[in-house]
Amino acid sequence: MAGESDTSTCALACVKCGKPANLQCPKCVELKLPREGAAFCSQDCFKASWSSHKAVHSKAKISSTGGQDSGSLNDGWLYCTRKGQGRSPKVPQFNWTGTLRPHPISKTRVVPAHIDRPDWALDGIPKIEPNSDFQHVVEIKSPDLISRLKETSRIAREVLDAAARVIRPGVTTDEIDDVVHEATIAAGAYPSPLNYHFFPKSCCTSVNEIICHGIPDARKLEDGDIVNVDVTVYYKGVHGDLNETYFVGNVDEESKRLVQSTYECLEKAIAIVKPGVRFREVGEVISRHASMTGFSVVKSYCGHGIGELFHCAPNIPHYSRNKAVGIMKAGQVFTIEPMINAGVWRDRMWPDGWTAVTEDGKRSAQFEHTLLVTETGVEVLTARLPSSPNMFPWLNSSS
Ligand code: MF3
Ligand code: CO
Ligand code: CO
Repeated sequence: MAGESDTSTCALACVKCGKPANLQCPKCVELKLPREGAAFCSQDCFKASWSSHKAVHSKAKISSTGGQDSGSLNDGWLYCTRKGQGRSPKVPQFNWTGTLRPHPISKTRVVPAHIDRPDWALDGIPKIEPNSDFQHVVEIKSPDLISRLKETSRIAREVLDAAARVIRPGVTTDEIDDVVHEATIAAGAYPSPLNYHFFPKSCCTSVNEIICHGIPDARKLEDGDIVNVDVTVYYKGVHGDLNETYFVGNVDEESKRLVQSTYECLEKAIAIVKPGVRFREVGEVISRHASMTGFSVVKSYCGHGIGELFHCAPNIPHYSRNKAVGIMKAGQVFTIEPMINAGVWRDRMWPDGWTAVTEDGKRSAQFEHTLLVTETGVEVLTARLPSSPNMFPWLNSSS
């Protein structure tokens, strides 16, 4: 109570649009600049202001140690708290939908200089991606691109498996992020989420009612939680993207059903992938299985093309009666990544601008693969390996 009562001090106007602003530019906070000039209502307004806003950093005297440049904002949002206090003690006024709360985010992790980076690594802004023709046209990948995508996707799988092996009660999601980060750079790859549109960490960790894009933080996993780990790596100029939802200790029966149903939704969707199939069919298959098992399908987040770009065409909704255009062709590469909710399908966004949660606070699960359309069907580029840990009871052979 004491912490959350101190929220009136956050009622500032967004520098960009004037709406009530609960976010503070982390760099301004670090430099102890006036809060009025550092207030934003959303990541979108922050991004839109960035090219002009960053000038206020360079004007300010950098008193802190090192005095690094003010061009990169990767310390994460601090919820109107000062650096070092983390984001937990004081959070903006918000109708939390469930019992989860944000916890402090650790310092930015470093990527060694020899590792090749995507164009957002330094300043948080993807430059090629939003302007590419492949936002509208679905690329047919060349044999060379396909062989690089296979290599990268395999690394992503091995990184996710490394994360899966450390999941148990008491481990923080930040520790999972550390495992992902270290395994990624050990493979000579860059963790694609790091600084993507200013995302502060190297993977997404989405616990219980978090649908997706949870920020790894100091919260310890508890017995009975479910946690999704979403890994994307960048290697040899291309991205590979996958995620899985894991059980933490002993989980209730409904959560087990939710996670298994979500796994099956992805399996059933993959099973229809081949040249000539409409992208909009993916959502029909997923929606049918989700509703048959008593669950709902998230609409705000979709599967996506992937390759030299992290996110590109096609856009692949997971819900029924969607308006996705086009048919699958051999040589296309995209993800399918259904998010399935125990209760209502609607999502809400935490004030950090990233964390998507269920509107009713009930649990959500997700699985994701990167897929290649072949002449005869599909190849799962992020498929499980013989070395992958056995996390899912339904995969154990009955023999
Ligand atoms: N891996 C996510 C996806 O499946 C994207 C995460 S972007 C981040 O598309 F910035 F949130 F990390
Ligand atoms: Co992903
Ligand atoms: Co994805």
